[in-house]
Amino acid sequence: VDLRPFNTLALSERAERLLCVESDSELVAALAQAQRCGWPVTLIGGGSNLVLAGPVPGLVLLMRTRGRRVMSRSPESVVVEAAAGENWHDFVRWSLDLGLSGLENLSLIPGTVGAAPVQNIGAYGVEVRDLFDSLDALDRRTGEVKCLQAADCRFDYRDSLFKHDAERYVILRVRFKLSPRPYINVGYAPLAAAWQQTGLQRPDSRVVGELVCAIRRSKLPDPARLPNAGSFFKNPLVPQAKADALLLLYPQMPHFPQPQGACKLAAGWLIDQSGWKGLRRGDAGVHAEQALVLVNYGQARGADILALATEIAADVQRRFGVALEREPPLLGTVSGCS
Ligand code: EPU
Repeated sequence: VDLRPFNTLALSERAERLLCVESDSELVAALAQAQRCGWPVTLIGGGSNLVLAGPVPGLVLLMRTRGRRVMSRSPESVVVEAAAGENWHDFVRWSLDLGLSGLENLSLIPGTVGAAPVQNIGAYGVEVRDLFDSLDALDRRTGEVKCLQAADCRFDYRDSLFKHDAERYVILRVRFKLSPRPYINVGYAPLAAAWQQTGLQRPDSRVVGELVCAIRRSKLPDPARLPNAGSFFKNPLVPQAKADALLLLYPQMPHFPQPQGACKLAAGWLIDQSGWKGLRRGDAGVHAEQALVLVNYGQARGADILALATEIAADVQRRFGVALEREPPLLGTVSGCS
């Protein structure tokens, strides 16, 4: 089976077997069969945060479980739950339609609910961990369904337990604690400016959600039109002293001081300054509006995207002395490329 329709970079790689899973019992049955037959199992949600580097052996499971519900209500918080296969943006909109605040800054992020905790998706000053309540995951070692709390998930910037222990847990359902009282978070400068322009006096999460969609559409390519996997690199953390040294040379460099003497730099800015924005190597390219996003203009292979990424990272390292780390994980058997 060609996986091209199942990854937003539209990379064409074969899966040995592909199965769409629509319920927990189908999942359990599929995992049992894979174990009997000795097939390695790979899970894919929306396929929006991965790079297919080669053919995928064994069994690929497409998580397509559905269901959303309100679990509990109090004057301070409402806990909502969605199945792993639910589309993330539809879930965000559903929560906003219920009059709940919290997820609006995470509007329009491609992918599924089950994938959201894996990389702790984040945008415009909010991360999934900020709204996270708990999740149910199938522990493949024991066959048990476990309820994991935030501390168990070891969330960090674009990181969690699930990124490191990808073999062990299958996320089944995720719960979020949202607010029935309207509040907004418009700390991110372009969002603050857009909010100001609306002239609204009271917090309105649905309006903020729409503004976030507009900002994303203006900068980030729609994967349906120009295949991509969002940010290809993490924003690097460097010691404050390193940031200070760079700021002497580049006073306008975006930088975000962090706790414990660290400073976060903008990978997009470093790549942009190195002259890569809009550049193309065959069908692999750097997006013209946001240098952090690599795109597939047509027939690029995973190896082409990875070769471009390696070239960019080496150039940024040479110019700025800063190491860039790839964000989306690799899937498939890598042949002849690092
Ligand atoms: N910048 C440039 N040139 C570029 C890109 C960015 O100069 O080509 C500058 C911007 O002007 C700004 C700074 O770099 O001063 C940061 O850019 P931006 O605010 O666009 O965000 P980002 O750091 O590039 C991160 C996330 C995005 C998220 C946005 C908004 C990561 C790896 N990426 O991007 O997440 O939408 O912030 O919060 O943290 C994703 O993970 O796939 C993703 C799109």
